[in-house]
Amino acid sequence: MKIAVLGAGHVGPVIARLALAAGYPVAIAGSGDPSRIEMITEFLAPGAVPLSASDAVADADLVVLAIPWHRFATLEPALFAGKVVIDAMNHWPPAEEPQGTSEEVARRLAGADVVKTLNHIAYQDMEPPAGHAVGVAGDSPAALEVVSEFLSRIGFEPMRVGSLFDGRLLEPGSPAFGKFAKESE
Ligand SMILES: NC(=O)c1ccc[n+]([C@@H]2O[C@H](COP(=O)([O-])OP(=O)(O)OC[C@H]3O[C@@H](n4cnc5c(N)ncnc54)[C@H](OP(=O)(O)O)[C@@H]3O)[C@@H](O)[C@H]2O)c1
Repeated sequence: MKIAVLGAGHVGPVIARLALAAGYPVAIAGSGDPSRIEMITEFLAPGAVPLSASDAVADADLVVLAIPWHRFATLEPALFAGKVVIDAMNHWPPAEEPQGTSEEVARRLAGADVVKTLNHIAYQDMEPPAGHAVGVAGDSPAALEVVSEFLSRIGFEPMRVGSLFDGRLLEPGSPAFGKFAKESE
């Protein structure tokens, strides 16, 4: 399974590193020319291939959205058709919409299967992840399986919290935000 990580800031390289360590081929993209993130990739996620966002997505089975929420609207929805998408984004300040933000992502990326996870854990706590529980929410049972398997392989313990609607429990402002703990705690 090929992974594309969109975002080469705090979160993206950590997820890329974990995925590489688990043996997945990984492409990573920022918002611009891939040459701009070559250095980041070399130091923070050696082995990940820097590509443009569109090239990274085109070649991927699983796409991780690790970009600021306000940049989400810049993504071209058609690129995501048929992909499983992990939405790790958060709306700051917490959104006051009746919909969860991942429901909004799923609405816009209508051809993709969106799963909300990894958004509620700080990037510094993602590594080493052994045993760290992460909430997983989504509407597609098949995509939930794919993402849970991915999370397990990179070292997390996925915990199903329900549908994308229920995924609001994982969002900023919810009591559960940031509350999943390592097994040892
Ligand atoms: N920081 C955390 O601990 C944490 C934890 C969990 C979830 N999150 C969420 O994860 C997301 C990323 O957080 P972060 O702290 O990693 O942000 P960040 O450090 O600001 O990095 C954002 C990255 O996204 C890239 N980007 C922006 N627009 C893009 C586009 N259209 N296509 C591809 N890449 C694009 C930026 O590239 P350019 O520099 O080229 O614009 C940059 O590399 C946010 O939604 C945040 O709420 C953060």
